[in-house]
Amino acid sequence: MTARKKVAVLISGTGSNLKALIDASADSDCPYAIDHVISNRPDAPGLTYAEGAGLARTVIDHKDFASREQFDGILDGFLKTIGPDIVALAGFMRILSVRFIESWQGKLTNIHPSLLPAFKGLKPQQQAIDAGVAESGCTVHWVTPGVDEGPIIAQQRVPVLPGDSAETLGARILVEEHKLYHRALTMVARGEAFFPVGWTPG
Ligand code: GRF
Repeated sequence: MTARKKVAVLISGTGSNLKALIDASADSDCPYAIDHVISNRPDAPGLTYAEGAGLARTVIDHKDFASREQFDGILDGFLKTIGPDIVALAGFMRILSVRFIESWQGKLTNIHPSLLPAFKGLKPQQQAIDAGVAESGCTVHWVTPGVDEGPIIAQQRVPVLPGDSAETLGARILVEEHKLYHRALTMVARGEAFFPVGWTPG
């Protein structure tokens, strides 16, 4: 069997997507393995999932650094020491500097709870409710310097139901996120999805 691709997962909070990836990668046929979990918050509940699974985990607290560039420089250096094939942002609530993103472009993925390019940025579930759309969903995409605008790896549609709030829609989307991120990382790990050379923002 070919070696499983090494994934570093970056979190800030609950870590339910991390948990789903941990569970899915327990299957011996999974083409990727979670090698390391990194949190920018020492109190991120998701760290307990990493601990429970016996995964290497590291906290790099952004509050210990005077600037975004300093934090990103330390994160970049740390990632280079562990050498992941894929760096998966999973509820990582930090804007990353262009320099960091360019240095990891083609390995750096994110999950966002909308059907991008619709509803970029904060509170996409509320944006979907406010827009009155009949469906929303979730997207796994390559990270590029523009927020939530990188090339799409995979998407899953989710209906918006009458009476939905951001919370009820968000919960329905989250169930699909947990399947979608595994599907997308499987495609990346197998070489079936890759960053398109020469891609520019549309
Ligand atoms: C998810 O909705 C993800 O799409 C967004 O942040 C949320 C993280 O949830 N980027 P969790 O920490 O994985 O539970």
